[in-house]
Amino acid sequence: MEFVPVSPDAEMRELLKRCDLLVSDLDSSDSLFFYGCHSNGNITGVVGLEIHGTVALIRSLAVTSNIRGLGVGRLLVQFAEEMARKKGIESLFLLTTTASNFFERLGYMHHQRDSAPESIKTTAQFSGLCPASSCFMSKQLSS
Ligand SMILES: CC(C)(COP(=O)(O)OP(=O)(O)OC[C@H]1O[C@@H](n2cnc3c(N)ncnc32)[C@H](O)[C@@H]1OP(=O)(O)O)[C@@H](O)C(=O)NCCC(=O)NCCS
Repeated sequence: MEFVPVSPDAEMRELLKRCDLLVSDLDSSDSLFFYGCHSNGNITGVVGLEIHGTVALIRSLAVTSNIRGLGVGRLLVQFAEEMARKKGIESLFLLTTTASNFFERLGYMHHQRDSAPESIKTTAQFSGLCPASSCFMSKQLSS
């Protein structure tokens, strides 16, 4: 499966919206990088990195419902981690209301939201997701 840089066009936004993921802040930052995969010219999966210095938020992870459970989500996260390493990122953070078990299996650990770096705390993702319903997780990237 090939993963390529993608821009937040209408098709990608549609996929994120179908998954109830945030789309209001996609144009707001030059620190956002998205990677996706396609089938027959249509986007089937996407993952984003929101970079703040040497830390980044992994976000906008979505796979079309017809190909879930086939390993695409895991490969997308692993690809994003590889891209993050290449960009000098030391730690990845994320918030999730739906996939904490999925991320646990990929080596992400649960933390208190208060422990987040300030740059992560100020992201739209962080302020947009209700503390009570979301898990805050992180992973240290080896070089
Ligand atoms: C979460 C998501 C990206 C996973 O994509 P996927 O391609 O189905 O994931 P994979 O096939 O790589 O799954 C790897 C493993 O995690 C499991 N898994 C997948 N989604 C899971 C979830 N939400 N919670 C717990 N486990 C999950 C799979 O069953 C699989 O287990 P297995 O190895 O025993 O078969 C996909 O379900 C999705 O797009 N969900 C809607 C959007 C969303 O919730 N995104 C996350 C926001 S942080």
